[in-house]
Amino acid sequence: MQIIKLGGSVITDKKRYCRFRKQVVGKIAGELKRAADAGEKFVIVHGAGSFGHIKAREYQLNLGRNPKIGDQHLGFARVHLDVRTLNLKIMECLNKHGISAVSLPPLSIALNSAGKLKVLDVGAFERALSNSLVPVTFGDVVFDEKLGFSICSGDDLTLKLGAHFLPERVIFVCDVPGVYADFPPKKHTAILKEISPSDISNLSKANPEFDVTGGIFGKIQKCFTFLEERKTTEIWVISGRNFDNFRNALIGKDIQGTKVVIK
Ligand code: IPE
Repeated sequence: MQIIKLGGSVITDKKRYCRFRKQVVGKIAGELKRAADAGEKFVIVHGAGSFGHIKAREYQLNLGRNPKIGDQHLGFARVHLDVRTLNLKIMECLNKHGISAVSLPPLSIALNSAGKLKVLDVGAFERALSNSLVPVTFGDVVFDEKLGFSICSGDDLTLKLGAHFLPERVIFVCDVPGVYADFPPKKHTAILKEISPSDISNLSKANPEFDVTGGIFGKIQKCFTFLEERKTTEIWVISGRNFDNFRNALIGKDIQGTKVVIK
């Protein structure tokens, strides 16, 4: 089994509010179908991209409920509506490609505590899988036992599901071909074949202004923590633009990208 996280920067145009990349998602769905026909089983998680981040920032939803922010509850409802709209577009695409995907929105099945994912109803995913369905979930706004509400990222959902299902592979599909050997990358900066905790400390030393808890490095740090307790799952960061490579990754063959390892 594999867990595939489709990054928001692949499936949407991150700079333009609610701009869906239909063709890209269509190609990804085609490859998923091919792999499903070859017997692969998946859980799919997708990010929010410009359907989530722009308005979430505007209403500061990541910091929790704040009555001083005018109409913040309306912003919360808007972001939920927008990420569901994105999810429906993806579900439509998956269904059209013959994938029996069903949607499990985090607002209904997850709970955060102080901005961190605390509870996820993994039983819903198990029931979908045992009925030959492909469960799909996504970055969403959720209730938070400490903050009223906050944001649940697709990355956190991916690793929570990974910890439960112990899949063969977790694949983060991004808009870059992997993790660059230098940050910020220059024109000829290579992609790391593997990234381990020592690479992260070198990269952050070379870039003291760089915040290791954010962006791609925040994701990688969470992956290291995940791998410390789970040696059987491979974690990869690959490009969502190279469909041949995506196809290979789904069957575990000659993957180009960065493998996250703890050595
Ligand atoms: C963010 O989810 C969710 C919201 C902003 C509501 P992700 O963090 O998984 O989204 P991407 O992949 O970065 O776009």
